[in-house]
Amino acid sequence: MKTVLLLAGTAEAREFANAYKGQRTRLVASLAGVTTKPLAYPCETRNGGFGGVEGLRDYLVREGIAAVIDATHPFATGMSRNAIYACDTLGTSLLALVRPAWEPVGNWHGFGSLDEAVSALPPGARVLATTGRKHIDPLTARSDLTVFLRSVDQLDDLPAHIVPIAARGPFTMNAETALMRQQRITHLLTRNAGGESRARLDAAVVLGLPIHIIERPPHLAATVVHSVADAHQWLDYVLRD
Ligand SMILES: NC(=O)c1ccc[n+]([C@@H]2O[C@H](COP(=O)([O-])OP(=O)(O)OC[C@H]3O[C@@H](n4cnc5c(N)ncnc54)[C@H](OP(=O)(O)O)[C@@H]3O)[C@@H](O)[C@H]2O)c1
Repeated sequence: MKTVLLLAGTAEAREFANAYKGQRTRLVASLAGVTTKPLAYPCETRNGGFGGVEGLRDYLVREGIAAVIDATHPFATGMSRNAIYACDTLGTSLLALVRPAWEPVGNWHGFGSLDEAVSALPPGARVLATTGRKHIDPLTARSDLTVFLRSVDQLDDLPAHIVPIAARGPFTMNAETALMRQQRITHLLTRNAGGESRARLDAAVVLGLPIHIIERPPHLAATVVHSVADAHQWLDYVLRD
């Protein structure tokens, strides 16, 4: 039986696993282990980092992985880079399943980094931020802002000007509009994550709010697809013998 490693943690990864009908294939979904209550996968699941490129390479050899599908978040660049290096050295087939980026809408301001996007916010702005919990230093440094930082898990130990909002999507446009009105949001700070969960963008457009958006880094994998159906087709081809 062939084993396939699915680097997971996104809606696309779950969709891939839910719809995968491969007979005689062992599918293993890998989660970073950062979310306290991750949604369940319909296949074998492992949790936690591999230990860099070396650790991943050892894992691929130990488990006899025939193919890797990188369906991590478009901004999870560390994991994607490690997968490229590890698969390259072993000659393991690698596919990146990346959701399409959003096209500019409304009062859209694109930036290359969180630092730049935050620097461009005017003093006194009330910001809804969905930029992740890992890199918050630029926000911490701007005590002249009021930042509503949304994340799946509850965040602690934040400075007084950063208000955590613990919530798991998907969010409707009505809910996003209501939140923005209720908190008197003046700016949306987000990343070009792409995909279906764009209600915050549409709500910002309706309310005429400036959207400070961090554009995504280019994906460096040689083979990239944008749909689950294409990923299934690729896998069927790679495992065809
Ligand atoms: N970044 C985001 O905005 C975002 C949003 C939603 C979901 N996620 C998901 O959360 C996970 C972590 O994101 P991140 O931004 O921390 O990524 P990252 O910076 O690319 O990864 C940091 C480290 O976390 C471990 N890791 C990441 N994804 C993993 C996976 N699927 N399975 C096992 N180990 C994993 C790896 O550790 P080792 O080096 O020890 O192997 C990796 O080097 C990803 O699976 C991603 O899809 C991220």
